[in-house]
Amino acid sequence: MNARKTAKLENTTADISVVVDLLRAGKLVALPTETVYGLGADATNGQAVAQIYAAKGRPSFNPLIIHVADLEQAEKYAVFNDTARQFAQAFWPGPLTLVLPLRKDHGISELVTAGLDTIAIRVPAHKLAQDILQTFGKPIAAPSANISGRVSPTTPAHVLADLDGVIDAVIDGGACAVGLESSIVKIDGDDAALLRAGGVSLEALNSCLERDVRTPDDPDAPQSPGQLQSHYAPSAAVRLNATHKMDGEVLLGFGAQDAADINLSPKADLVEAAAKLFAALRDIDTLARTKGATTIAVSPIPATGLGLAINDRLNRASAPRD
Ligand code: TXA
Ligand code: MG
Repeated sequence: MNARKTAKLENTTADISVVVDLLRAGKLVALPTETVYGLGADATNGQAVAQIYAAKGRPSFNPLIIHVADLEQAEKYAVFNDTARQFAQAFWPGPLTLVLPLRKDHGISELVTAGLDTIAIRVPAHKLAQDILQTFGKPIAAPSANISGRVSPTTPAHVLADLDGVIDAVIDGGACAVGLESSIVKIDGDDAALLRAGGVSLEALNSCLERDVRTPDDPDAPQSPGQLQSHYAPSAAVRLNATHKMDGEVLLGFGAQDAADINLSPKADLVEAAAKLFAALRDIDTLARTKGATTIAVSPIPATGLGLAINDRLNRASAPRD
């Protein structure tokens, strides 16, 4: 990509107008959601969407999520049945993405869906994201605003660490409250399948229907095209379920853990740990480098509530890399 100057914008009416003008002109703008920062472009503009893939170094077979202001807008692009509507009513606006049949004459660039006949769609709750979506009036395609395979950003500084000089602007909406990407649920008739654990817990999703959502470990369940085994990779190696710190390691703790170099939540609160996870992964990677440690050891984290999504991200961070 050509080097360009990345504008650093604030949460003001004037800067929201700047963002909307940039989006209308087919530019790339990183913006906050309650989950992570997204790298946004006009979802109906193929050239703009192509630049998202280029900026991230993202494989083009991995489709993007579109963001809209509300359910009414969402229905212009996707076909909602009763099951889909139940999820939307229970969790929107919020950290849930629904994968639904794509509507005809939707106007969305084919690059967004990577040629699939389904579309991933979400209504974010973040006030600034809502302000931008309502003013723009069109869907915004936005993957997480990081280089493909790296840790997702939860602050503007994280965005700039990967993409300064590559994107047109970033607007500051503070640190993301949830801190993990949205949960992705694919609806196919009556069937609901979790493609990615995320900001809405499986327990909460299961309480929405009279039956349980299928999970990715069900061999017959549909899988997401973009769930790469190695992802969120820090520079140091990662060792999970570590009960103590070995030589050459730094420790990312959870719960009471005196030896922790950084603790996700000393009081073992999974919501706090989720909000801190990505920033902590970056910080402990830097600490490992300064201390000459080769490995990040991570305390065991229970697989309930947001712990399912936290463990999913940590498993990918620890996976063998290409
Ligand atoms: O919280 C989030 O979801 C953030 C914020 C910015 O909204 N976005 C995000 O986007 O995490 P990204 O691109 O990093 O992850 C999107 C995931 C990918 O795993 C992709 O494969 C999947 O959604 N996806 C997109 N369209 C799909 C489709 N039609 N069917 C199945 N999976 C799809
Ligand atoms: Mg991502």
